[in-house]
Amino acid sequence: MKTINDILDAASVIPVLEVAALDQAAPLAKALAAGGLRVIELTLRTDCALDAVKAMKDAAPDLIVGMGTVRNVGDIEQSIAAGAEFLVTPGTSARLLSALADCGAPALPGVATASEAMTAYEAGFAAMKFFPAEPAGGLAYLKSLGGPLPGIVFCPTGGISADKAPEYLSLANVACVGGSWIATKAMVSGGDWAAIEANARRAASMKS
Ligand code: 3PG
Repeated sequence: MKTINDILDAASVIPVLEVAALDQAAPLAKALAAGGLRVIELTLRTDCALDAVKAMKDAAPDLIVGMGTVRNVGDIEQSIAAGAEFLVTPGTSARLLSALADCGAPALPGVATASEAMTAYEAGFAAMKFFPAEPAGGLAYLKSLGGPLPGIVFCPTGGISADKAPEYLSLANVACVGGSWIATKAMVSGGDWAAIEANARRAASMKS
């Protein structure tokens, strides 16, 4: 099994995806892989999200498919059973954090404050999702965490655009950025695979 560091090494930008219909999964996976992206976060917000993990892996076997919007122990179990290769949570309750630490799958627990980051670090996590990045303080906030929390790296997500991503990626404590801009809900439901591939290509050229 890959470690979270293996996964972060393979990605500067992680597209955050919502798949509303299962037949969107394969062409979406192919477009993202064709654009050069290696790691994706599929959100657990639609009825077919769990089935979409396998459909995306079948269509693009080299993609590393993670499950996002993991909010409770049941979500962890179902995501792993569905084949998710890593887990992402929007925030962390004490119970969720301990279940994530116990489940053995690579994970990015969600945090938005120094205290939450320190709690997750104590639970064994040194890489975290910083969410919602822009409303929670953005670049300035993350830069401020770098001094007192030197052992922690973040994947900021929430409100980040293609134009803002490079600045985030230039921070020493940012391992990658996440965002829905690469394949928005409208682009996915409209089957706009060429535009998604073009966005993926631009994102894949960004370096952390
Ligand atoms: C999410 O989990 O919804 C992500 O943070 C997406 O945020 P964005 O749509 O602002 O990129």
